[in-house]
Amino acid sequence: MDEHKKKKILCVGLVCLDIINVVDKYPEEDTDTRCLSQRWQRGGNASNSCTVLSLLGAPSAFMGSLSAGPVADFIMADFSQRAVDVSAVVWQVSGQTPCACCVVCPSSGSRTVVLSDTNLPDVTKEDFSKVDLHQFKWIHWEGRNAEEQVKMIQQVAMYNSTLPPQQRITVSVEIEKTREPLYQLFPHGDVVRFVFVSKDVARHFGFLTAEAALKGLYSRVKKGAVLICAWAEKGADALGPDGLIVHSDAFPPETLVDTLGAGDTFNAAVIYTLSNGGSLENALTFGCRVAGRKCGFHGYDSIGEKFTDNQVKN
Ligand code: ADP
Ligand code: FRU
Repeated sequence: MDEHKKKKILCVGLVCLDIINVVDKYPEEDTDTRCLSQRWQRGGNASNSCTVLSLLGAPSAFMGSLSAGPVADFIMADFSQRAVDVSAVVWQVSGQTPCACCVVCPSSGSRTVVLSDTNLPDVTKEDFSKVDLHQFKWIHWEGRNAEEQVKMIQQVAMYNSTLPPQQRITVSVEIEKTREPLYQLFPHGDVVRFVFVSKDVARHFGFLTAEAALKGLYSRVKKGAVLICAWAEKGADALGPDGLIVHSDAFPPETLVDTLGAGDTFNAAVIYTLSNGGSLENALTFGCRVAGRKCGFHGYDSIGEKFTDNQVKN
C-alpha cells in the first residue's frame, strides 16, 4: 500500500459524555420512572465517527476540546481503548466537558438527546495550525464553530496547494444542526469534496426527501463537490458533479435496538470506503449497511466483528 493510503483520518468536532438510559416506553413529562439499563458512553458526532473508523480498521484521530476532570478521564480511557489518536485534543483551562442525557427507546427506535454544551471553548484556527497535517489523508469537520472551521479548512487548502493531487488531504464536512452559521460550510467545494447534510437540515429547508434536498441544496456547494444526505429507514442519497442521484436503501436490523449515533456511523463508513478508493455507490451502500446493523445493538462494539470480513466487498 502506498504511504498516503496508510495515513490517518482526522475527525474534528464534539466529544462529550453520553449518559444513556434505555427505556421500554418514552417517559411522560413530570413522571418518575425506572429505565431498563443505564450506561456511560463516549459521545459526540466526530468522536463517534472515530470509534467506528477504528472498529472498521482505519487509523483515526480526534480533534476537539476537553476539560480535565473525571469525565475527561473516562473519555480519554475510551479513546485509548479504541486506539483513537488523541494528540490533537485541546485541553481547555476553563469550561466543562459537555455531557448529554440520552433516552434510547428500542420499542419505537427513537433516541432523544439533551446536551449540555455551554461553556467549553471550541478548537480554533490557532490550535489547528499546530497540527502536523502530513499524518492525514482525510479530515472531516463536524459543523460547530463554522466561522473558525472555515479558516481551518483554508489552512488545508494552502497545504494541499503545495502537493501533487494524490498526496492531498480530502476534506469533508457535516452540516447536521439547523443553525444558520453552519450553512457557510456548504460553499467550500474547491477544498471540501464531500458535504454530509442531515435530514433535519433538509427538512428545515422544506425538503421532504433526500433526493429533493440534494437537488435543492446542490447549488449551495461549489461545483465538484458531492452532497450526501442520509434519511434513517429510507437509506441515503448522494449527488455529485455529474448530476446523477446515487441511492442506497437502508439495511434495517432484525430488531431495532439503538439508533443513537446511526448518522455518525454512516458518515464514518462512507468516509472509510471513499478513503480506500471505493466508489460513491459502494460508499453509500456500505454506510447504510454498517449504520443499519449498528441500529440492531447497543453502542458500537459489534461493528468490528460484523464488518471486517466484508470490507473487501465494497
Ligand atoms: P442521525 O443519527 O443523524 O439521525 P439518520 O437517522 O439519518 O442519522 O440515519 C443514518 C443512517 O443510519 C441511515 O442512512 C440508515 O442507513 C441508518 N438508519 C438510521 N435509522 C435506521 C432505521 N430505523 N432502520 C434502518 N436504518 C437506519
Ligand atoms: C449522536 C451524538 C451523541 C451526542 C449527541 C450530540 O449523534 O453525537 O453521541 O450526545 O449526538 O448532539
